[in-house]
Amino acid sequence: METVNTVAEVRNLVRQWRKEGKSIGFVPTMGYLHDGHGSLITRARENDKVVVSIFVNPMQFGENEDFSKYPRDLERDCRFCESLGADLVFSPPPSEIYTPGFCSFVDLSALTDRLCGKSRPGHFRGVCTVVTKLFNIVKPDRAYFGEKDAQQLAVIKRMVQDLNIDVEIIGCPIVREPDGLAKSSRNTYLSSKERKAALVLSRAVRHAEALVGDGIIDSDTVVSALYDIIQSEPLARIDYVKAVRCLTMEDTDKIEPQTLIAIAVYIGKTRLIDNLIVR
Ligand code: PAJ
Repeated sequence: METVNTVAEVRNLVRQWRKEGKSIGFVPTMGYLHDGHGSLITRARENDKVVVSIFVNPMQFGENEDFSKYPRDLERDCRFCESLGADLVFSPPPSEIYTPGFCSFVDLSALTDRLCGKSRPGHFRGVCTVVTKLFNIVKPDRAYFGEKDAQQLAVIKRMVQDLNIDVEIIGCPIVREPDGLAKSSRNTYLSSKERKAALVLSRAVRHAEALVGDGIIDSDTVVSALYDIIQSEPLARIDYVKAVRCLTMEDTDKIEPQTLIAIAVYIGKTRLIDNLIVR
């Protein structure tokens, strides 16, 4: 496995692979990798070559968010990528991605004004801008994103379609801890008391699954049941609980296939998300 920090080095390697007729799978990440990221890397091995980027993207963090304390451990991440069979890790410093005078952005006029986009203004502009740049640098055939960040997945799919970016976007299921908590780099912020309280998210998701399984299709009924569960946890503060259409993020009154039931909850100061996509 190679580890490089510059755009030029990625381009050289990718050019060589292209000449050899190899297909390229790409997994963009912000590092501090866990088995959720690992599942994307493993899936990406359906390509001849797998590229993983590790870049904590300052542009997608709000002013009062956790950019500076976001967990980082590049050495461990590289070992993890190598153990899963990645071929290249690209971990640029911010100055390599945002060169002096940088002033171009990718922004969607819909999909990004609700859910996480509403709570985190500018977040998806930062995500779309960096992902577009990474796509232009790596030029992958396929790119892999987790359903854990379901709105991000929908936004990237829309962006790729709207801008004719020649990459296939592949969504991968949520990977959880044995007790149900969705894996996240931000779980490291939780104290042991908060870690227990955080289980309220997956409990709510499982309850939603059971209600839908029982044939309840009224969104308000499901959403208010989830409110009750989450509010019963004293350390939890709800950001949102919503039922929306999976690809457009529009509200839906009726739960049907491709409805996304999405939740965002603060446990203490840590904001966690989880969801269920109805199949
Ligand atoms: P990051 O939070 O590091 O996540 C990288 C990828 O891993 C995303 O596609 C995310 O959905 C996926 N992922 C995270 N936890 C997961 C889990 N428990 N199960 C399955 N997949 C999971 O998302 C970002 O970074 C950034 O916004 C990025 C796309 C890299 C742009 O900066």
